[in-house]
Amino acid sequence: MSGYAEATIRSFPPMMNIIERLKKIMPKHVQPITTNRDEYFAVVEKISREASQKTVELNRQNRLKYLIGRSGISPLHQDCRFENYQAYTADQRAALHQAIAFAKNFGSGFGGFVFSGSCGTGKNHLAAAIGHCLINKGKSVLCITVADLMMRFRSTYEKHAEWSEEGLLRELCNVDLLVLDEIGIQHRNSDNTQILINQLVDRRTSHKKPIGMLTNLTGEQISGVLGERVLDRMMMDNGIWINFNWESYRSKVKCHA
Ligand SMILES: Nc1ncnc2c1ncn2[C@@H]1O[C@H](COP(=O)(O)OP(=O)(O)OP(=O)(O)O)[C@@H](O)[C@H]1O
Ligand SMILES: [Mg+2]
Repeated sequence: MSGYAEATIRSFPPMMNIIERLKKIMPKHVQPITTNRDEYFAVVEKISREASQKTVELNRQNRLKYLIGRSGISPLHQDCRFENYQAYTADQRAALHQAIAFAKNFGSGFGGFVFSGSCGTGKNHLAAAIGHCLINKGKSVLCITVADLMMRFRSTYEKHAEWSEEGLLRELCNVDLLVLDEIGIQHRNSDNTQILINQLVDRRTSHKKPIGMLTNLTGEQISGVLGERVLDRMMMDNGIWINFNWESYRSKVKCHA
């Protein structure tokens, strides 16, 4: 125990005095957790350890605001939850259940996911629902389009850039779940994009951190764009692949604002 902690305990008023004084002002039904000094300090230590753990986790999610200028999930998908995902067909129900299972089992392995399929089928919806669920469990989540990611990396070369390229890469590897959106949409300088995605997938999987991918491309097409190694790593440790091949939901979306 540190000198400071010992001195604090020695100078702490005797336990029974405190309890007696508190009893005078406490309602009758409130009982002290313990009257034993050691137990009391153990409880205080546990409470403060839990509180500081929560602060660390909250800070990790808040850091994303500095990193990309917003919370980890885009404003458009802030309301997406498992509960409001309409599953009409067996394939949609299977997709929903796999997404729920991914969020539930998060932390037990480092397998990621690929949601591949046509427009408006709910890939972002289910990825955001996973994200919200994990954030509620104290995990940090970032869902970012490849175009935004590239823009963010380019900004590290500006004169007074706040982040170095390596610093940004490190932060992106620290996030508990990183979801890369719009994989395969043609980008300016696609060689750099391919190198960066390779680097991220490589680093994260070697640190046993999962990564999610959302794309309109098929497996074969992604393999052509990103290379065989990336897909191979995405399927490590029971990584999941879901095909979203049903009609777009977008015409049913209503604005409730
Ligand atoms: N099954 C569903 N139930 C409820 N809302 C849905 C469903 N599918 C999609 N949506 C809603 O439709 C809109 C479009 O969905 P989303 O952004 O997830 O599509 P996407 O598959 O990512 O499409 P794209 O490939 O074009 O990016 C979102 O507002 C989403 O919440
Ligand atoms: Mg999308």
